[in-house]
Amino acid sequence: MIKKKRIFFLFFLFFLSTLAFRPTFSQNCLDCHKTKTPFIVSDWQLSKHGRNDVGCHICHGEEHKGSGDVAKARIPTPETCALCHEEKVNQFKKGKHAFGWAAMKAMPTAH
Ligand code: HEC
Ligand code: HEC
Ligand code: HEC
Repeated sequence: MIKKKRIFFLFFLFFLSTLAFRPTFSQNCLDCHKTKTPFIVSDWQLSKHGRNDVGCHICHGEEHKGSGDVAKARIPTPETCALCHEEKVNQFKKGKHAFGWAAMKAMPTAH
């Protein structure tokens, strides 16, 4: 059990470091999506995710790079959200929808 926690913690540190050292990734997404999907970008910019540097790639991955490979864009699952919102996702799964959390599927609020 302790070992598991430690592994999780290391994973979490790794995850944080990827956030800290690769801020440029989302910039590519942003530059292109500002013209392709301007409303999604503006929703994201206004959201807490946008204001807290939770970039596009964190939820959608980095494999999709343009119009030729749209299928490679990942669509996030509750597990993706649980990386940062573990408690809320557990409540969500147990059916106790935390206030405002039912928004999980009510897009585009996740941006
Ligand atoms: C050079 C332009 C370009 C770049 C760079 C780009 N995208 Fe896209 N993306 C597109 C286009 C075009 C579509 C299709 C839009 C549509 O169908 O309305 C798309 C679609 C998507 C979708 C929807 C996928 C689906 O299944 O419907 C997501 C999510 C996405 N992009 C995320 C990203 C992320 C994250 C990045 C950065 C890692 C990124 N995009 C970089 C052009 C781009
Ligand atoms: C906190 C996670 C999160 C972040 C950050 C995020 N998205 Fe999304 N995105 C989602 C979710 C959830 C969906 C809805 C998937 C679905 O339809 O079930 C989605 C859907 C999309 C779609 C497809 C919309 C459609 O209706 O086909 C595009 C395009 C997209 N996002 C682009 C972006 C771009 C560009 C950024 C950065 C400016 C971004 N996303 C940041 C979670 C996120
Ligand atoms: C990399 C970490 C991270 C991930 C992954 C993430 N979030 Fe967030 N989320 C945040 C942060 C940081 C905030 C702002 C917290 C605050 O200010 O209280 C936030 C806030 C929110 C809020 C509150 C918005 C508001 O305006 O009050 C909702 C709803 C939310 N996230 C949903 C999601 C969903 C749904 C997903 C998965 C598709 C997701 N988040 C994935 C970090 C994340």
